[in-house]
Amino acid sequence: MHEGRHCVKTQVAIIGAGPSGLLLSQRLHLAGVETVVLERHSRDHVLSRIRAGVLEQGLADMLRAAGVGDRMDAEGEIHDGCEIAFEDNRLRIDFAELTGGKTVMVYGQTEVTRDLYKARDAMGGTIIHNAENVALHDVDSDSPYVTYEKDGETHRLDCEFIAGCDGFHGPSRKAIPADRLKVFEKVYPFGWLGILSETPPVSEELIYSGHPRGFALCSLRSRVLSRYYVQVPADEKVDNWSDDRFWEELKSRLPSDVAADLVTGPSIEKSIAPLRSFVAEPLRYGRMFLVGDAGHIVPPTGAKGLNLAASDVFYLSNALIDYYRADDETGIEHYAEKALRRIWLAERFSWWMTTLLHKFDEEAFDVRVKRAELDHLVHSRAAQTALAENYVGLPYD
Ligand code: APR
Ligand code: PHB
Repeated sequence: MHEGRHCVKTQVAIIGAGPSGLLLSQRLHLAGVETVVLERHSRDHVLSRIRAGVLEQGLADMLRAAGVGDRMDAEGEIHDGCEIAFEDNRLRIDFAELTGGKTVMVYGQTEVTRDLYKARDAMGGTIIHNAENVALHDVDSDSPYVTYEKDGETHRLDCEFIAGCDGFHGPSRKAIPADRLKVFEKVYPFGWLGILSETPPVSEELIYSGHPRGFALCSLRSRVLSRYYVQVPADEKVDNWSDDRFWEELKSRLPSDVAADLVTGPSIEKSIAPLRSFVAEPLRYGRMFLVGDAGHIVPPTGAKGLNLAASDVFYLSNALIDYYRADDETGIEHYAEKALRRIWLAERFSWWMTTLLHKFDEEAFDVRVKRAELDHLVHSRAAQTALAENYVGLPYD
């Protein structure tokens, strides 16, 4: 024991209590593997973040298996299709019919996080909030540890593995030496301005709309809560957007029959999110693993962020469980490779859907090619199937 330090030991130290860290902790705990979760913010702060709300079946099934699916099944909505709109055209993509019955669950990420917290509490899981200056040590040795400060004291957490579930800005990725880390990145010259409003959604299904004025998305959280987005320049400020201006811009980018049905009202949240594609390789360094946003980011078109975090958690939890139950290191050895394969497939899909539907400062040739791509989508069942199978989620292996 170091002087002035409080030492604790666990099997897997998890940094970050977002959906990745909480779901990993829950799955490991159910299999008898000990975890301690360290979170920089308070629980209220974690639960105030509004993120996308489309869950692939793989994630919905994982939540059920982890004992966290009841409220999702009661309050979430199963969607068996979505719409792609461009100017006055509307194309329905019938997921169920094109993929042999697969669907997605529309249920907010914030609610998933809330349910995970409840389950961790019920099982006596350890989540330490307001942990400051979290630092990773000796990650390439057999005895890594994490230090952090809380209430003015320094603490040390000894562990056998570290799961870096600390999002894009967390310290875990930085623990990989610069000469070992390769990053692949694309920053788009625009963001999404989103609002949440207590109004009935304009459509029962999501509408992704590509328009010469820019992209727009009609989404929802429930029958009385809508979520809408419009593409804006990357340096745009929320303060420039009154609710009226937002509604007018949204209407101008939707097919006229949809715009006519739109019910507007005061926004209860309004914010701008940048769009980025990012992958860090490798996802493992010694005894540390990157999971979720810590290792990769997708633009929100296609709603893959949370779903990719979930497949990482699936691979890593299974790998660690095999290690602890059967002394089998195969899963650990293959974690990065397996996770990255699925990540790159989702990167490709999110980049494709973003490129297809957003307005870029592009050459006339590219605009015509995108128009042809939409034409192909409308007339080719194969093209629709490709969209549908990616949207509902590619298999986990
Ligand atoms: N120390 C401890 N915790 C940290 C630190 C740190 N230095 N830095 C960040 N964190 C915490 C954040 O406060 C946050 O609660 O890590 C958590 C990371 O959560 P998310 O950013 O939500 O990332 P993740 O859990 O991987 O979720 C995947 O799905 O829809 C997408 O991008 C969206 O958040 C989403 C993601
Ligand atoms: C959302 O509801 O916030 C949402 C839905 C689908 C997306 C992105 C965001 O592709």
